[in-house]
Amino acid sequence: MKMRKCLAFMAAAAICAALGFSAEAARAAEAPLAGDKKALVVYFSKTGNTQGVAETVAKLTGAELFRLETVEPYPDDYHTSTEVAKRQLEQNARPALKAVPQDLARYDVVFLGHPVWWHTIPTPVMTFLDGAKLDGKTIIPFCTHGGGGADESTGAIRKLAPKSTVLEDKEFYGGASEEEIAEWIASLK
Ligand SMILES: Cc1cc2nc3c(=O)[nH]c(=O)nc-3n(C[C@H](O)[C@H](O)[C@H](O)COP(=O)(O)O)c2cc1C
Repeated sequence: MKMRKCLAFMAAAAICAALGFSAEAARAAEAPLAGDKKALVVYFSKTGNTQGVAETVAKLTGAELFRLETVEPYPDDYHTSTEVAKRQLEQNARPALKAVPQDLARYDVVFLGHPVWWHTIPTPVMTFLDGAKLDGKTIIPFCTHGGGGADESTGAIRKLAPKSTVLEDKEFYGGASEEEIAEWIASLK
């Protein structure tokens, strides 16, 4: 382990120990893609920005790709869709999904891609997190946004996946180049 990584791991281990997590969790937070981890990319995307990033993440990591889609589609009109999404968030709704990934036990790491909606994760992503068996896994969230950044997304994911190691949501303004995504992926190894 190089000195910088070693110090970062020791710091992560100390923080995790203070918070009551194991050294294994510290290692997962420090180098979540180290070794032969099996990864899945799960994403939700309405207008394609997050989908573009998700496809590149899958291509660069060799991970399988799964798109979350709601049974009830969102309106095409931007303003109307924001109103629908706002109402769902206020009502703490969990819109039904057409399908969810099966057999998550096969994966160590789940990349979770989403657009930022009303400063947080879209409610369909909450539906996924509520039903998914993600205990003990590492969740690597990433998002695309329209200028407000990831905002409250990391906290929302941590709340819904309390027994997972959840990294800080990686934010991309509107999308990202392959180079930018590759640089991020490299930092996870
Ligand atoms: C319902 C809705 C709410 C949004 N809320 C935010 C927000 O709070 N902050 C922000 O920066 N962008 C916001 N946006 C912009 C999207 O996050 C941004 O366009 C994103 O890249 C869309 O991803 P997608 O093409 O994968 O759906 C919102 C868009 C929609 C449709």
